[in-house]
Amino acid sequence: MNKILVSIVFAVILVLGINKITDVIYQVEKPENSAYQVNVTTVGSSETQESSGSSQDGDIMALFASVSATDGAKIFKKCAACHSISKGGANKIGPALWGVIGRKAGAISDYKYSKALVAHGKIWSFEEMNGFLIKPKEWIKGTKMAFAGLKNAKDRAAVILYMNENSDNPLPIE
Ligand code: HEC
Repeated sequence: MNKILVSIVFAVILVLGINKITDVIYQVEKPENSAYQVNVTTVGSSETQESSGSSQDGDIMALFASVSATDGAKIFKKCAACHSISKGGANKIGPALWGVIGRKAGAISDYKYSKALVAHGKIWSFEEMNGFLIKPKEWIKGTKMAFAGLKNAKDRAAVILYMNENSDNPLPIE
């Protein structure tokens, strides 16, 4: 009789305990899930907003006319936690970005890039940077850059313009 009681109590404790644990796991995972979903829906909506002409994702050059490097400096605040942009700036969590436009991907010698980024091996042209910044982890599978991306094409254009100006050899914009 006593044994049965004890095992019932144990069973209850076990179930409650598992509930607690799954609660914790669920809470930890939840923000990631919802962030992803928000991302997907806004990408869709910004595409419909911008599908009316020259401002498609690929057409970064056309967007430069409607943005300024000053806008870009504001957007860059999102990057500044991990990247320096000033001349002679140090590597932080991510590599120093002075002169990154026109530079080969993975070219800072004293920064430890992911294998994926080094293997990518492309030049950071305007188009390449635009593609990367939409969703870094899709453009370069395996990159360790933990940044969701910039959904808005104008934000990308502005920050690319800003990075281009923070360089010894800015690429011509035409
Ligand atoms: C949470 C930190 C973090 C944020 C925020 C972040 N980055 Fe990065 N970034 C990294 C890391 C880490 C790498 C190295 C990636 C690798 O080696 O795979 C990287 C790499 C890069 C590279 C490649 C540089 C090279 O030398 O090839 C570019 C370009 C870049 N980031 C631009 C940006 C821009 C622009 C933003 C803001 C819109 C941004 N990053 C936001 C962490 C970050």
